[in-house]
Amino acid sequence: MNSALPTGIKPQWLAHENNAIEVLVISNPFCDAVIAYQGAQVLHYQAKQKPPLLWLSTGNRFQSGKAIRGGIPLCFPWFGAHPDNPALAAHGFARNLLWQLAAAEHNMHGHRLRFVLSETVATRSIWDYAFKLSVEIQFGAQLEVKLQVSNTDSQPFEFGFAWHSYFAIQDICQTQLHGLEHVPFLDQLVPAAGYSHVEHQPVGFLAETDRIYQQAGGHYQITAEQQTPIQIDAPACSSVVVWNPWAEKATRLGDMPENSWKNMLCVECGQVGEANVQLQAGQTLSYPLILSY
Ligand code: BG6
Repeated sequence: MNSALPTGIKPQWLAHENNAIEVLVISNPFCDAVIAYQGAQVLHYQAKQKPPLLWLSTGNRFQSGKAIRGGIPLCFPWFGAHPDNPALAAHGFARNLLWQLAAAEHNMHGHRLRFVLSETVATRSIWDYAFKLSVEIQFGAQLEVKLQVSNTDSQPFEFGFAWHSYFAIQDICQTQLHGLEHVPFLDQLVPAAGYSHVEHQPVGFLAETDRIYQQAGGHYQITAEQQTPIQIDAPACSSVVVWNPWAEKATRLGDMPENSWKNMLCVECGQVGEANVQLQAGQTLSYPLILSY
């Protein structure tokens, strides 16, 4: 529907060497933003008079079909490594595929866009179900994203998902994450210990961190001195993953320039692992995420 884009939305290409991905650049009285057709992934969001909310790696090569590091990738239909086949793409296929723009409107709060993704021969070859995903985004004074997962098959399916949000922060060592006090977590760096860890104060960061919390409350806040607090609300999500790779893993990942890990924190709301969801044929579930600062 490129031909009928409303005022304030422009198509553009993000390029690196011979690669490029198509994005939409959005500008309205409330915010500036960029979203890619690949993964329906928000890459940039900046409310007026505020700094950028999201971190996007300057090491991205924008190869079509390869995960883009930063913004808000959507992990679906599994989170992390595939449970049975480690050769399949980590975090599922949704973030690597081109989505279709189904609607775009200019409204009194900014712009609202809706992207959709359904099964193809390629998705069926790795996950043999009929499905429909819809991601609706309101680009306004706050960023509101909503995932709808519909089972259009004649049998139930199980899925995991996460909004793998990369937040821009000034200094990871000075940053705190609130809202996970007293909630048991799995430390993915020592998974054998299971959900045996619990902290009674806000999460601080002094080393590589990779944690899965279940039965979390869905409301979190990122704070640091000299930084406007970031509010994260995902009321329908019971899991949250907290991740910073630190220096050594960031180097290994290969798409994060030196020291850039100091300026990012991932707080990933979703349904993962034990909290994967069973969806009956014909049913739809919705998962909103609201980010404000
Ligand atoms: C996090 C995981 O969600 O994503 C980490 O907890 C992982 O273990 C990270 O390294 C990045 O994954 P990817 O596939 O985008 O490199």
